[in-house]
Amino acid sequence: MTVDNRHAAQQQQQEEEEERKERRRPAEHGEPELEALYADLAAARLQPLWTITEDLLPPEPRPAAVPWLWPAATMRPLAERAIRLVPVERGGERRVLSLVNPGLGGRPYAAGTLWGAIQCLGPRESAPAHRHTPGAIRFVLDGEGVWTTVDGDACDMGPGDLILTPAWAWHDHVNGGDSTMFWFDGLDLPMIQALDAVFFEPYPDQRQPVRGEHNTSERAYRTTPGRFTPDQVTEATEPISSPLLIYRWADTDAELTRLAATTGQHAVSVEFTNPETGTSVLPTLACGMHRIAAGHGTLPVRRAGNMVYVVFRGEGHSVMGGQRFDWRAGDMFAVPSWTPVDHHATAQADLFSIGDAPVLRALGVYREQVLSEPQIITSTFRPS
Ligand SMILES: [Fe+2]
Repeated sequence: MTVDNRHAAQQQQQEEEEERKERRRPAEHGEPELEALYADLAAARLQPLWTITEDLLPPEPRPAAVPWLWPAATMRPLAERAIRLVPVERGGERRVLSLVNPGLGGRPYAAGTLWGAIQCLGPRESAPAHRHTPGAIRFVLDGEGVWTTVDGDACDMGPGDLILTPAWAWHDHVNGGDSTMFWFDGLDLPMIQALDAVFFEPYPDQRQPVRGEHNTSERAYRTTPGRFTPDQVTEATEPISSPLLIYRWADTDAELTRLAATTGQHAVSVEFTNPETGTSVLPTLACGMHRIAAGHGTLPVRRAGNMVYVVFRGEGHSVMGGQRFDWRAGDMFAVPSWTPVDHHATAQADLFSIGDAPVLRALGVYREQVLSEPQIITSTFRPS
């Protein structure tokens, strides 16, 4: 097809689309019968599909959430003020600052299906025990001396560790030390809320009893392999959570180092897996860690489903939908569904991520597409 023919075909396509839109448009003035029909439909709480098809069934996902970044430099001082001003007895028992994506009309969600937050626990503080149907993960940023007790198993927490608190598991957080701990909270709360399946129950006491020594699940699985898979899990999820509740940074670091050495790649990823099944750690959430060598980057990829990234170490930038987002340690950013994203490191970077891919895979609607060319940067994000 010549350039002229292609142009003519495109023009004809556009004209036909305009005609289709015209036919679907609600009644204009001067068509009283049609106007009356639309008015009567509205009064009867009915909606004609032909006026809303495009919104309901777009050719590809149009998430309401927007690509966004929350800098540590903004979040940390605010969290420290909260520790000072909102002690446990003033509602600070869960001192959580949730990420609010500006595309979601004020709802406290990082993306349409994902809750993300920074949580901090001051010296000698504890967050009382409770349980809920939304599942959660904790990824530790800074601090020591804290443990999270999950159904009686006290899981010691250190920087870079991933701790699971699966759906309906009792959990409380205790700071037995003298430093403040900061961690990232990731939850499937918006998904479970969309299903109208949120249940919550406080524990009768401040803390649940701890069964035996700390880190029971870690000891039980010490010699069991299979807590990581290169890149990501591709099979459908199992509707169970990992019985291993702790994934230590030392093991994650070693696995990324091994993977980079054996593949010769400058950008490597692992997904944390249930050692019993090889599937994602929670039925609703995939957790990953991505290492990019200094001066290197990834090709753009777009995925159905949302993701939130936490910069654990390093410095660099990501491009989302043509917009450049510069990041450093402690920053968090949201990648809404089907937004092309590529990452680049100026200093070796380790990015932790959560995503809802297990749910999409279970429903048979997961898709991803790797683009062959880097994105063209059209703007740079400035946090407001
Ligand atoms: Fe909780």
